[in-house]
Amino acid sequence: MNDFKIILKDLKEQSRYRSLNLPNGIDLTSNDYLGMAVHPLLREYAINALENGMDIGAAGSRLLRGHTDYHAELEEFACTYFSAPKTLFLANGFIANYALFTTLPSRHDVILYDALIHASVRDGMRASDARSFKFLHNDIDALEKLLNLHKDSNIWVAIESVYSMDGDSAPIMQIYNLIKRHDNAMLIIDEAHATGIYGQSGKGLAYDIIQTNGYDKIITLHTCGKAVGVAGGLICASAEIIDYMINKSRPFIYSTAPMPLQALLVRKSLEILACDDGAQRRDKLLSLCIRAKELFGGAGSQIVPIILGEDEKAVRVAGALQEAGYDIRAVRPPTVPQGSSRLRLSLSSNLDEYILQGFADTLILNSVKI
Ligand SMILES: Cc1ncc(COP(=O)(O)O)c(C=O)c1O
Repeated sequence: MNDFKIILKDLKEQSRYRSLNLPNGIDLTSNDYLGMAVHPLLREYAINALENGMDIGAAGSRLLRGHTDYHAELEEFACTYFSAPKTLFLANGFIANYALFTTLPSRHDVILYDALIHASVRDGMRASDARSFKFLHNDIDALEKLLNLHKDSNIWVAIESVYSMDGDSAPIMQIYNLIKRHDNAMLIIDEAHATGIYGQSGKGLAYDIIQTNGYDKIITLHTCGKAVGVAGGLICASAEIIDYMINKSRPFIYSTAPMPLQALLVRKSLEILACDDGAQRRDKLLSLCIRAKELFGGAGSQIVPIILGEDEKAVRVAGALQEAGYDIRAVRPPTVPQGSSRLRLSLSSNLDEYILQGFADTLILNSVKI
């Protein structure tokens, strides 16, 4: 038996102990980038649907009775929305990534992944039969070398369009052009932090490429618990890939379908994001991103890393800011690389410039004091 007590004690001593804390103070930490998680219309849709007799649980796998009109309508809508031949909805982004990487690459295949790829992809790769190789973050040359090295295998390349902890984006067009030159390669783009915000009507940073080139060499994942404000993971791909997932993906097959309400609300949220309301929320968020870049640096997206280095310092500064009324959390290894513990400032269209300025002043005051 592992000595959990000792491991937990060590984590405490290293300032890496994690505990659950309820939301408290001004939200500078959630991924509700566009305020959709508290959208009054979505609340109304939920109430109406339940009052009109919608079942609570799906009560079975999608392949059994768990497949409802709501799931089918969402996937059909998502096909039009993301210009995809076929889509598949799973309960969350983590399980969607896990499903992709445990299902598609087979034993003789190779997965090439960006060094900063999300834990859900890592865990999927770990459980996959394929071999996986890392390339330096956003390093096209390193990726090209690996593509050439493995030219005799099927290759799956895993990137994020906006990276979750640094907020920078991948050079998607350059990577796509590379992939196009390799018949044996397929690009899987996790749009978790771009969906709803970037690209035409928030359809993601790969959307322009997809509109011109289709999904022959691309699979995208749109998580629905961040800017979309609900929960879920929508995989967009060729019909063949989605049909293969439906037939072979164990996390999809052997699991109860997401609640019908979840599917309904994701569809309604995407509808809102495509219209003026969504555009206004995006405009507001993007102007806050510009202001935040002036104040804190970073890549200019809604994710602003304030790197403090040591774990203990990150915990102390976060604690002081929490006491001052800001809900911001310390992010430490293994979520981020050793020596880069940070505050992950997460912007939302619910905030304004005054809040950002107040936070910047408090941060400076506390960084000087600590
Ligand atoms: C890049 C990335 N992919 C996938 C996920 C998982 O998505 P979900 O929260 O919907 O499970 C996250 C969540 O943090 C993420 O940041």
